[in-house]
Amino acid sequence: MSDAADIAGAVAALRAGGLVILPTETVYGLAADAGDPRAVAKVYEAKGRPSFNPLIAHVADLATARRIARFDTRAEWLAERFWPGPLTLVLPILDTAAVCDLARAGLDTVAVRAPAHPVAHALLEAFGGPLVAPSANRSGRPSPTTLADALEETGSAAAASLDGGPCAIGLESTVVALLDAPRLLRPGAVTRAQIEAVAGALSEAEADAKRSPGRLTRHYAPNLPLRLNAEERLPGEVWLGFGRWGGAGFNLSPDGDLAEAAANLFAYLRAADRADGATGIAVAPIPGEGLGEAINDRLRRAAGFVG
Ligand code: TXA
Ligand code: MG
Repeated sequence: MSDAADIAGAVAALRAGGLVILPTETVYGLAADAGDPRAVAKVYEAKGRPSFNPLIAHVADLATARRIARFDTRAEWLAERFWPGPLTLVLPILDTAAVCDLARAGLDTVAVRAPAHPVAHALLEAFGGPLVAPSANRSGRPSPTTLADALEETGSAAAASLDGGPCAIGLESTVVALLDAPRLLRPGAVTRAQIEAVAGALSEAEADAKRSPGRLTRHYAPNLPLRLNAEERLPGEVWLGFGRWGGAGFNLSPDGDLAEAAANLFAYLRAADRADGATGIAVAPIPGEGLGEAINDRLRRAAGFVG
């Protein structure tokens, strides 16, 4: 686990316009000063990310977020209930210097999130301003959930890296837009039901895909093709089981626990990808309720079903 000296080194790297690999409770991020367009440009380049796909501004607390974005009542409720934690809010931008145009892909909105991981929080406090931090994978690949995976993906572009151990959640934050009606742009660890209990009914985001441009391409994908809702392994396939769908290979959660499956998902996709001589990955059926909505969302996109 990184200590105070590592945090000080990371702050120095960020102030010099460098990138930092950062642990969060969801996945590892590749962080840069959100107000420094040259640093932000390095993030897009390191990820091979199209510059029309905006980044999340990470903040230490709600007070900092309020200076950057305009919070309406529902946004206040959601932040008070779920921050710090795995929820990102898309809101109208207030401070276009703190989160530069390139970070927002030129939009008049900004995605903000206050992460709960102690190392992320310590870095944000010490830095004193917002940091953009997309998942530290190269664009289109599974998000890294360990420092080793993050270093393998984009480590060569980072001036410093922080170790926070394996990510407890393992899936990216839930993204909710509060621009007109609340919309779920990306399911995540905070479930649809939890959001609706606080903010009221969510409108469907499908028709709204333009508002979350990063969701339009094949994403979270290993190199091998994925076959979903598989009830058995075919010759050549690596098996990714769940609960009673066991067998030789991996099991995302032998007890059928969705939180455990989420935490294992990306690491097991990477491991399955490395299996000798495999021609594909077969994934057992995973229930769609609660956290299962986010797990199935990532699997569908990894399999190439985007829509
Ligand atoms: O859990 C997470 O959110 C992780 C950790 C590192 O914090 N970060 C992350 O960032 O997943 P990224 O860049 O991989 O995903 C950000 C998502 C993308 O789908 C992007 O299109 C969307 O948020 N997004 C960002 N700004 C937006 C905006 N202004 N309007 C709509 N969608 C936005
Ligand atoms: Mg990502």
